[in-house]
Amino acid sequence: MNKLIVSLLLTVGITGFAHAAGDAAAGQAKVAVCGACHGPDGNSMAPNFPKLAGQGERYLTKQLHDIKSGKRVVLEMTGLLTNLSDQDLADMAAYFASQKGSVGAADPKLVARGEALFRGGNLTKGLPACTGCHSPNGSGNAAAGFPHLGGQHASYIAKQLTDFRKEEGGRTNDGDTMTMQTIAKRLSDEDIAAVSSYIQGLH
Ligand code: HEC
Ligand code: HEC
Repeated sequence: MNKLIVSLLLTVGITGFAHAAGDAAAGQAKVAVCGACHGPDGNSMAPNFPKLAGQGERYLTKQLHDIKSGKRVVLEMTGLLTNLSDQDLADMAAYFASQKGSVGAADPKLVARGEALFRGGNLTKGLPACTGCHSPNGSGNAAAGFPHLGGQHASYIAKQLTDFRKEEGGRTNDGDTMTMQTIAKRLSDEDIAAVSSYIQGLH
């Protein structure tokens, strides 16, 4: 197996994150303000706002802590989480995790390249297959905190991969292993466009 993926798999799962157990029903009462962008049930309409419905609870809780602390910069959410407790974040994560995610469609012209990359990686570029962590149908691994990708808006996915790839001012909250930063730096613009479109239709 590829050396990169072996070392990533060994370390990424155990950089654990202790958090309170979320209560989905309590969370539903706390997400009114989020619905404007993410959709009341977490299925956002606008392609720059990520869908949260059906996303893994552990992943969502981690992102909320990272956004609140500024470790992940989301300008649109500035100040929104400041007065929320750890329990509030856990409850909101549990609520969105319990919703059913919607699926989009892939661009037929990009499917072949996107699928090959997602399922097979690229040996010459040292790219592991995305399926190793995000699963063959894109559902991720909720227990490990590997996010669900299937059905997510292509433009949001493309922005994340571009942000992970940036040398400065990008997304750097992928832990000490820098898993996604390492992977994204090996993706070309064409790779990103193809795999993002493929993910949008994946389920
Ligand atoms: C004004 C619009 C807006 C509002 C309101 C908003 N968000 Fe967001 N949120 C965003 C945007 C834009 C992003 C993605 C930023 C990026 O491109 O990295 C985001 C990202 C996220 C993510 C990360 C998703 C992922 O897949 O990594 C979570 C979780 C999240 N928001 C939860 C919430 C919650 C909970 C609320 C309510 C307390 C909320 N948001 C309110 C715009 C908003
Ligand atoms: C070794 C495991 C691993 C592999 C292989 C992997 N990922 Fe990831 N990916 C992760 C983890 C862990 C995160 C969450 C990082 C964080 O906590 O912010 C993530 C996050 C992401 C995100 C951000 C999701 C969101 O909602 O914001 C995207 C997009 C993504 N990966 C795409 C890919 C693609 C495309 C590939 C294949 C080219 C890939 N990943 C391969 C582990 C992996």
